[in-house]
Amino acid sequence: MTETAIEQAMRHALSLAARGPAYGVNPQVGCVILAAGNHSQIIAEGWHRGAGTPHAEVDALSKLRPEQTRGATAVVTLEPCNHFGRTGPCSEALIAAGIGRVVYAVSDPGVHSSGGAERLRQAGVIVESGVLADEVSEAMRAWLTATRLRRPFVTVKWAASLDGRAAAADGTSQWITGTAARQRVHEQREQSDAILVGTGTVLADDPSLTARGDAGELMPHQPIPVVIGERAIPADAKVFSHPQPAIVTGSRDLGSILSELFDLGIRHAFVEGGPALASAFVAADLVDQYFIYLAPIVLGGGGLALGDIGVATIGEAKRLTIEHVERLGDDLLVVARPREGN
Ligand SMILES: NC(=O)c1ccc[n+]([C@@H]2O[C@H](COP(=O)([O-])OP(=O)(O)OC[C@H]3O[C@@H](n4cnc5c(N)ncnc54)[C@H](OP(=O)(O)O)[C@@H]3O)[C@@H](O)[C@H]2O)c1
Repeated sequence: MTETAIEQAMRHALSLAARGPAYGVNPQVGCVILAAGNHSQIIAEGWHRGAGTPHAEVDALSKLRPEQTRGATAVVTLEPCNHFGRTGPCSEALIAAGIGRVVYAVSDPGVHSSGGAERLRQAGVIVESGVLADEVSEAMRAWLTATRLRRPFVTVKWAASLDGRAAAADGTSQWITGTAARQRVHEQREQSDAILVGTGTVLADDPSLTARGDAGELMPHQPIPVVIGERAIPADAKVFSHPQPAIVTGSRDLGSILSELFDLGIRHAFVEGGPALASAFVAADLVDQYFIYLAPIVLGGGGLALGDIGVATIGEAKRLTIEHVERLGDDLLVVARPREGN
């Protein structure tokens, strides 16, 4: 089926959204403005570049003169916001610019920011929603999940041998996978707001938990290191030299730790182990996405990637859907998510 001009414009807005940062409190949003009376003519593009910068709609409007915006159509991936944050409400900016029609994909689930569609309608703007909603929701999945659940979206990552071991019998686990896989992990760290590890990993490996490039250089965005557990960790642990101040919870209560992290603005948490912490997240059904790296080695022994997750019999297995499988050097990356209704 051929796409309508509006669907094409929404697809373009979605590609613009991806130019913004995946981390941070705000969602990735894209917007295109179509000429009054000609939906095939894009007259401006906008996207959101992170907290404190103009929202996508305002960014697009800023490129146009008033006579161009009057009666034009704005196509935007997320319902225009309706609140005064660090920037003014997008609904008011669209009304002030004389926009005639607003088409968006996904409603804003935010407590403070929703209501933009209603405000636009009150002002006489034609409003339509749901265009490419599935694709846009999928692209915004982490932010939408975090906003709805008021806890960060949780990705659990581990690296294992083909027989599912995350460490050898003596506890050594660093460098299970090769360079390409490790580099991908650094990129994934950079896209996250926080890296979570248990005290066991800090005591065993003393990881720095920074996001680094090929040459070991620090990437521009650094996730906050979070160490979860009751035991004290040494004052000279490398996490305390991280560019972001480390958070040490002193607690094992994952539910309350996640809500506190949400209140600190963390929307995407990247759990990097070890097995005890990863198992606790899985057992509590607090995992939204799995990144499982598999190396072509077998280790045997007891160093399993997961321990007790509360599954006693096969009927209780936590079933996953595989989203994506990729070969990285000699290793495999399997991306999976909990199966719906599981
Ligand atoms: N292959 C990999 O991907 C990978 C990744 C990381 C680590 N590792 C390896 O894993 C080993 C360390 O394993 P580990 O399991 O001890 O590490 P861990 O999961 O990082 O730490 C375990 C500790 O986390 C704390 N914790 C916090 N919340 C918890 C909860 N809700 N439930 C249970 N524990 C909780 C507990 O410590 P408190 O007693 O302090 O509360 C627990 O002893 C090392 O050999 C390391 O090299 C492998």
